[in-house]
Amino acid sequence: MGTGNDEQGFTPLKLNLMQLLTSKAVRVIAIIALMVALAILGLFQLPSASFDRLWYDNGFCSLSPSTLSRDDLQPDELNGIDWSRFAYVQYVTNTEYLCNSVMLFEILHRLGSKADRLMMYPSSFAVDGASTEESRLLRRARDEYGAKMMPIEIQRRPTSDTTWAESYTKLLAFNQTQYDRVLSLDSDSTVLQTMDELFLAPSAPVAMPRAYWLNFDNRILSAQLILIEPSKYEFNRVMNALNAATSNDYDMEIVNNLYKDSCLILPHRPYNLLTGEFRSNNHSDYLGNSEEAWDPDKTLKEAKFLHFSDWPVPKPWLSAPPSMIQDKQPKCQQNPKTGEEDDCRSRDLWLGFYSDFKQRRQVRYLRSGNEKTIVGATGGKARPI
Ligand SMILES: *[C@@H]1O[C@H](CO)[C@@H](O)[C@H](O)[C@H]1NC(C)=O
Ligand SMILES: *[C@@H]1O[C@H](CO)[C@@H](O)[C@H](O)[C@H]1NC(C)=O
Repeated sequence: MGTGNDEQGFTPLKLNLMQLLTSKAVRVIAIIALMVALAILGLFQLPSASFDRLWYDNGFCSLSPSTLSRDDLQPDELNGIDWSRFAYVQYVTNTEYLCNSVMLFEILHRLGSKADRLMMYPSSFAVDGASTEESRLLRRARDEYGAKMMPIEIQRRPTSDTTWAESYTKLLAFNQTQYDRVLSLDSDSTVLQTMDELFLAPSAPVAMPRAYWLNFDNRILSAQLILIEPSKYEFNRVMNALNAATSNDYDMEIVNNLYKDSCLILPHRPYNLLTGEFRSNNHSDYLGNSEEAWDPDKTLKEAKFLHFSDWPVPKPWLSAPPSMIQDKQPKCQQNPKTGEEDDCRSRDLWLGFYSDFKQRRQVRYLRSGNEKTIVGATGGKARPI
């Protein structure tokens, strides 16, 4: 600092400079001391005070709090979510499955799901002005459960297994470009909780869970639940694949071939549970690890979508011989506390899935004569037990 000029006998100036230097040094020291003190204070405060409070308390930045309470705004408004851009979609090829689809829409309606519901139904089915079983069910979906109606042509291919010959119709969901996103759910299932949050998942042409019950090393995607961003481009890809399909390629093979490496993987837990899981002796594939103990109540509580799959036990709207149920129902497990085989929770839940489905189907739809008196008896219950 002391340069040649300062040495030229200007004592007062020198003194002033000295004073200045001294006072600067004092200020620097004072500032450093203050910072250290604050840092120590800060260190002491950090564990107990939130970041926000630290700022407000020290008065560094006196932001005036918003007069608008978060409670004044609905979360959807806050986030700008327009739920009419999204839809749960069902495809229908016959009356039996139409009934299942209406049942799914009934659950979504009852649980208060926010997205639209879209029914793709054969254009040969009349909606209004007919008294057939189909038109009655379609009107019910539209008028009571708020479903939007989309007439379509059933997509058929010559396949080896006629059960799935019409499952290609599901792929018409890729063509529903009036929506930004649609969620296709197989109707031989029960919705346990709404899945609205899926519509807000990171963008991807297709999102699916794994078929966790198949050899996991093959990383097969399950087409029971498909989240789709409909587009002309993807629909063309799907239709081209469909037209080139061999007799052993179904909807599941087509989406696996097209999207196995570009699909967003949804966790099968909680989005894809099979009823058959409750009959299994080994739950490590479902649980995703081999340490966790199987807890049927916890599994059901977390699950959002439950698919009926218990071969050779038939689907729940078909009747099974009692001996088959007796034979195939989940076995009671040994209770570590009592040593007895009296832990029957898996069995009871499993039997409950079937009886709940049968009850909802018969009470609400098939016995149309008794409808009014019985509907109230099952209302308001979201879970099958
Ligand atoms: C796809 O949607 C368009 C209307 O958006 C419709 O004209 C066309 O017929 C649909 N294709 C099939 C195969 O359903
Ligand atoms: C359960 O299945 C997993 C994978 O499928 C396997 O690695 C494991 O050994 C099985 N556990 C038992 C007890 O069989």
